[in-house]
Amino acid sequence: MRTDQVPAIRVRGIEKSFGDLPVLRGVDLDVAAGAVVALLGANGAGKTTLVRILATLLVADAGTATVHGFDVREQAAEVRASISLTGQFAAVDEILTGRENLVLVARLRHLPVPRAVADDLLARVSLTDAGDRRASTYSGGMRRRLDLAMSLVGAPPVVVLDEPTTGLDPQARIEVWHEIKALARGGTTVLLTTQHLDEAERLADRIAILHRGTIVQDGTLAELTALLPPAEVQHVEKQPSLEDVFLAVTGEATTEEESR
Ligand SMILES: Nc1ncnc2c1ncn2[C@@H]1O[C@H](COP(=O)(O)OP(=O)(O)O)[C@@H](O)[C@H]1O
Ligand SMILES: [Mg+2]
Repeated sequence: MRTDQVPAIRVRGIEKSFGDLPVLRGVDLDVAAGAVVALLGANGAGKTTLVRILATLLVADAGTATVHGFDVREQAAEVRASISLTGQFAAVDEILTGRENLVLVARLRHLPVPRAVADDLLARVSLTDAGDRRASTYSGGMRRRLDLAMSLVGAPPVVVLDEPTTGLDPQARIEVWHEIKALARGGTTVLLTTQHLDEAERLADRIAILHRGTIVQDGTLAELTALLPPAEVQHVEKQPSLEDVFLAVTGEATTEEESR
């Protein structure tokens, strides 16, 4: 069921500095319930900082954010029950099997039938056959899928994936994309951070570009590519790509020849 009235994530004027370094300078973002939104930004743009604030792991200097209607500062426990952040709450234990990892998380979350939860999630991320092998024997893609499954224990309505495919080989990336799409089809709200334009293009209903501490553009892929008239992209006889838009809105210069 989608409750489209309340945005799954609502961010207003979030600011965060580390010492003298301003990282977030007034971020505004809405993620509709059931949507898949990509937060696209270069390395160091502040993507992890923002998602850590949403997951209550970090406190903002200014601004407000709600997750599933709960304020991250005032209702942290409710927020934590509504959101999962991969790589933070889910941490694969290498010594345990895939199934044991999931059972452990299900127990920690006080779910009534941990074993059934584990079996269901193993099937969902296509790890049933590997479920009784130690996680240390898993490939990178399998481990990332297990990590994803661990973040789905208890069916949180909002799932945040912080660079879900960074460091994976092309085959493993495709496997993880497949799981993210399945998650989205099931109605879960997904906010994923990425540095990869193709990943944002493939997975997201909307793309928000984080640059120099603010969201400089936010829209559907069609809306973003419409920002650039095709005629302005010289030497390329096709519609502007997300890459063209990204380069234009972030002002990251291409080489002199290309920009002339
Ligand atoms: N705990 C911290 N202390 C100091 N600087 C930090 C801390 N966390 C992140 N930063 C800095 O904030 C900036 C944004 O980091 P981050 O949010 O991790 O970016 P991204 O996830 O987009 O790569 C970087 O310059 C990073 O070095
Ligand atoms: Mg990061």
